Amino acid sequence: MAKDVIVACDFPSREQTLSFLDKFSGEKPFVKIGMELFYGEGPQIVRDIKARGHKIFLDLKLHDIPNTVKKAMSVLSALDVDICNLHAAGTRPMMEAALEGLTRPDGTRPLLIAVTQLTSTDQAAMERDLLIEKPLDEVVLHYAHTAAQAGLDGVVCSPLEAGKVHAVCGNNFLTVTPGVRFAGGDVGDQKRIATPQRARELGSDYIVVGRPITAAEDPVEAWARCCAEFLGK
Ligand code: C5P
Repeated sequence: MAKDVIVACDFPSREQTLSFLDKFSGEKPFVKIGMELFYGEGPQIVRDIKARGHKIFLDLKLHDIPNTVKKAMSVLSALDVDICNLHAAGTRPMMEAALEGLTRPDGTRPLLIAVTQLTSTDQAAMERDLLIEKPLDEVVLHYAHTAAQAGLDGVVCSPLEAGKVHAVCGNNFLTVTPGVRFAGGDVGDQKRIATPQRARELGSDYIVVGRPITAAEDPVEAWARCCAEFLGK
């Protein structure tokens, strides 16, 4: 798939999500459906947004024992999304089981990517709460390498790590990067951030952008600005 901007539709309801998407008259941005919307509205919201012609990244970040994740992935594969994900911290057997579950009888499946360390996590929190004392970028690269060995298609990481992930796992291994902010924009809870233009320079394949677009006065203008900066159009 070509590089793109994925809009994180972190809304609590179907009404709010569809009225947000209605603003993009004619345009069909790549949409991320996360826990808030999926848990609020259930799988039908995925079918509805798909039917409107959007590509979908279903961001549910599965993390459980391999058998549970395999069975959950097999349910999700019926939703026909473009990308879904899990936590690399679930380890390689969990990732391999997930791939098995996601693969349909005809051999097709959505892309599967692994969250490395959340972009809201910094070195201090990782050491304090997870007892991981290696440098954060080394941890991200190790998780990416394990995900690649398990057969996954890419990782979720910060734009700041995208180049290094490609160097270790190859250019075809996708880097999907949240933690994107316009220059001077509100950072919120994100820690490892970059602008859309910097994300492009660093080699991100997809940027995931939520509040800088959803909370903008003119979301369509903010989305177009993101595309212009990231895609260089
Ligand atoms: O509003 P903001 O641009 O910070 O939204 C980023 C989106 O990306 C959120 O939906 C968040 O759940 C998601 N995400 C993230 N960091 C990860 C994985 C997903 O911020 N490592």
